Amino acid sequence: MTLKSWLAKAQKESWALPHFNFSNLEMLKALVQAAQEARSPVMVGTSEGERNFIGLREAVFMVESFREEFGVEIFLNADHSKSAESAKKAIDSGYDSVHIDLSNLSFGENVKGTKEVVNYRGPTSIEGELGYLPGESKIQNKKFELKPEDLTDPDEAARFVRETGVDRFAGAFGNIHGISLDEPALYIERIKAVRKALSEDIALVLHAGSGIPDEEIKAAIAAGISNIHISTELRSEFREELEKSLHKKGETEYAPYKIMGPVVEGIKEKAIEKIKLFGSVNRV
Ligand code: G3H
Ligand code: ZN
Repeated sequence: MTLKSWLAKAQKESWALPHFNFSNLEMLKALVQAAQEARSPVMVGTSEGERNFIGLREAVFMVESFREEFGVEIFLNADHSKSAESAKKAIDSGYDSVHIDLSNLSFGENVKGTKEVVNYRGPTSIEGELGYLPGESKIQNKKFELKPEDLTDPDEAARFVRETGVDRFAGAFGNIHGISLDEPALYIERIKAVRKALSEDIALVLHAGSGIPDEEIKAAIAAGISNIHISTELRSEFREELEKSLHKKGETEYAPYKIMGPVVEGIKEKAIEKIKLFGSVNRV
């Protein structure tokens, strides 16, 4: 099945396709194991920082080889591409999907740049974004204040999708990247309104899924979200497990693959927890 058909199925059956970010082979390995064990299709994504660290072609080849060897339904996304050039580079490298994020620009400039990527794409699935999402994918010791005008406007969303031709649409619904001191509630009514304003074949994406309470996630899916991004919770799992593994009492381990074992296991378990929450378990 293609990414588009998985997203259409998720929307029709009211569950969400997970999108997990990764920074290295160990994280990807854990996500593949989670997908296989929980029989879930998954998107795996690299931000610009993540893919510059791994290498774009290397990320494509790693995903392809896991797909072939384990038969997992896995799709690689170039997450938060901050310019048309960066998005095109990912397309040229063989990514299955690109998220072009020009949400910090004016509506007109966002449409123009997003359209440029859509016209370039070939078979690559494209996601566009409109609205203001604060924060970064880390634990943030501060509060964020969101104003009603930061949320995505349903009419503007419909116009954006019409004018750009994107396949997936990401909006701002009170979601904040990373985990902050006051994880605010999602504006579920706004999700419903944006969903209603878009044609059925457009997938509605929720970024910044870390730290959002389970009940809110379930309500967001019921309101029409069919794709959810998780990064910070995996990163924090990576860090915690690595620290524990390195500081195991009475042991001085030097073999990297032994040090990394519990890290892979921890990330896999966290991903399976999200797969169950999103309802994508046992779909493959
Ligand atoms: O695109 C990445 C996600 O939106 C990750 O957000 O770090 O809040 O999970 P998160
Ligand atoms: Zn995001």
